[in-house]
Amino acid sequence: MGDMRDPGSVVLDEHQLDRLELVLSGFLPQHSLRVPTPSTGATLLDPENTPVAKVLDGVAAPLQPLARGYGAAWRQDLRVSTAAIATRSGGVVAVLPLTAPPRTEQISALMRTAAELRPAAPSALIAILRSRIESPQARLRPNTLTELVLRIRDDLRTTHPNVVTDVVVVPWPADGSVDLAELRFATSDDAVLPLDSTERDLLDYPAPSQDFFSQAREGLHHCGAVVLFTGLSGSGKSTIARALSEALLDQHAAVDLLDGDVMRRRISPALGFDRAARIQNVINIGEVALTSAQSGSIAIAAPIAPFDEARQSVRAAVPREIPFLLIHVSTPLNVCEARDRKGLYARARAGEIKDFTGISSPFEVPHDADLTIDASNVSVEDAVADILKLLIARVSVKEA
Ligand code: ADX
Repeated sequence: MGDMRDPGSVVLDEHQLDRLELVLSGFLPQHSLRVPTPSTGATLLDPENTPVAKVLDGVAAPLQPLARGYGAAWRQDLRVSTAAIATRSGGVVAVLPLTAPPRTEQISALMRTAAELRPAAPSALIAILRSRIESPQARLRPNTLTELVLRIRDDLRTTHPNVVTDVVVVPWPADGSVDLAELRFATSDDAVLPLDSTERDLLDYPAPSQDFFSQAREGLHHCGAVVLFTGLSGSGKSTIARALSEALLDQHAAVDLLDGDVMRRRISPALGFDRAARIQNVINIGEVALTSAQSGSIAIAAPIAPFDEARQSVRAAVPREIPFLLIHVSTPLNVCEARDRKGLYARARAGEIKDFTGISSPFEVPHDADLTIDASNVSVEDAVADILKLLIARVSVKEA
């Protein structure tokens, strides 16, 4: 059995991935890339085993883009490098870093500082600090906070037309490993206002926030369900599953995301990839998903689950009152293999990995899928919208 990864590779956790993104986009200097490996030449893998960067003499060279999330907090025009910020803002900036909605007083301070720094052409930057891993208890979801700040920016463009006001989302490791003072936004002399996330009286916030705060908590919370994805390695299951999870969290649902690679590491570390082991693995994942659904979460599982027998077992284990969806991500083998994000297909072809799904082990196409998505033809957004539609229909049937 053994580890299928190279000795020179390191799996980064979500915090380290945030840190890597900070380095790659210029917010942190290269030398502050702290990875748990002394070895130069090491390949950095994300939690789904995708190689994302190589480290040479402490400098991280990207191998491919980091996986992105879904929703406003991941808009490409907001997740930008410091170089792009400098170009957009035209130099010196006053920065307001945020992890919570800004109070009126903080926004005034930002406008004031920007005008003081460069009266002729003031520029202000609102930097939303967001972690890849967000506490499920967070009062305001990253996408919601981002949308709120964009509305505040639009208002500022009307009330302070002379100030160039820009909004960016900055990766922010949730383990507290980065100090705000280390970050460089646009220039070395950015004026960074203090970070303050204490909650105040509603009246201390500008109008758009009050709407958001008072937004009713409705939608999909406390409606357990199991969504089981199945599909080849590299078909896009994890990406769609993650985006679905974000969309559901934005609707106030409780969500448990059970990714294939992660679940193997956590609950089935001793299982291999022969038929019996894979069936057991998927049944185990189904048990966790069921437990989670029974406590009111929407469990989203994304193993390859190549065998019909295993998928049927999971379906049978879920009682009637809990909605169950089987989603087949049917991206063709040649597309998965051409992308080969994890480099595993090449190794399977070379005979280095045996029993590899699609190459040396079968994938049984399901005939009972509730939805089939070919991710080479369908965007992540459309896939998520289709799944949400099905799920909401099932949940409301259940409640009726
Ligand atoms: S399953 O077949 O048991 O459902 P699961 O989703 O847990 O598979 O694990 C698949 C992941 O393990 C792949 O994404 C890949 O990173 C890794 N892997 C390692 N060996 C194999 C193999 N022989 N076949 C498929 N995936 C493998």
